[in-house]
Amino acid sequence: MSRRYSDAYNPAQDEGVVVRAHGLRKSYQRGSEEVLAVRGVALQVGEGELVALVGPSGSGKSTLLNLLAGWEEPDSGTVSWRGGAPGRQDELGWDELAIVPQRLGLAADLSVAENVAWPLRLAESPDDERVAQLLDRFGLSALADRLPAEGSLGEQQRAALARALVRRPRLLLADEPTGHQDEDWAKGVAVALRGACAEGSACLLATHNAELLDFADRVLSLHDGRLGGPSGLVSFGP
Ligand SMILES: Nc1ncnc2c1ncn2[C@@H]1O[C@H](COP(=O)(O)OP(=O)(O)OP(=O)(O)O)[C@@H](O)[C@H]1O
Ligand SMILES: [Mg+2]
Repeated sequence: MSRRYSDAYNPAQDEGVVVRAHGLRKSYQRGSEEVLAVRGVALQVGEGELVALVGPSGSGKSTLLNLLAGWEEPDSGTVSWRGGAPGRQDELGWDELAIVPQRLGLAADLSVAENVAWPLRLAESPDDERVAQLLDRFGLSALADRLPAEGSLGEQQRAALARALVRRPRLLLADEPTGHQDEDWAKGVAVALRGACAEGSACLLATHNAELLDFADRVLSLHDGRLGGPSGLVSFGP
């Protein structure tokens, strides 16, 4: 499969589009200064696709993920979520969206296992086996009964990833999901995300990790709130 820097729509994937954004713009007021964090972004991510979002610090990656998640309102533009199956036009349910925020957002007073199980509990569909499987996959079995703060930052980040994947989300938005991982675990995380895509999840990851790009189907490059980067569309190897 070819990978490329691209902000273009891919009409061939139109039927399996899980999230689509058009003309997204977001500004913040900092005192008298207006900061334009996202300026006119269009993108789509399809079922089973792993898309990496790269760009310098401050280029708008987290803001864009927050807009796609519905955590922030755009000044203008639209975000729509679609069902993955061809012809399905219904909106993506909130419970089908999972997010790994840059600041992780684990519940401090729940154990690692309880954090991972939380989305299942909310859905009233407990599945101890699934939780155990994810704890094992992310090297957290020995920490299951500990509080997040009793683990390393890397372990906490993997717990946030396990929690995000536990219900096999239709759309996963992950902000720097390997930011606290060593080389081996960065690869482990990438393999786990690829596995989620193989099961049909659409994954969009903001990342500074060049090694993650090898696992991506497409790479979107964000500069100063705009997709495409200074040189526009740049191809790199199949
Ligand atoms: N709540 C806010 N109020 C004001 N400015 C903000 C706010 N959130 C983000 N910004 C600004 O918007 C721009 C984009 O920030 P954002 O956090 O999206 O960047 P990023 O690409 O995720 O950076 P990093 O790689 O460091 O995480 C930056 O200039 C930032 O200072
Ligand atoms: Mg960020």
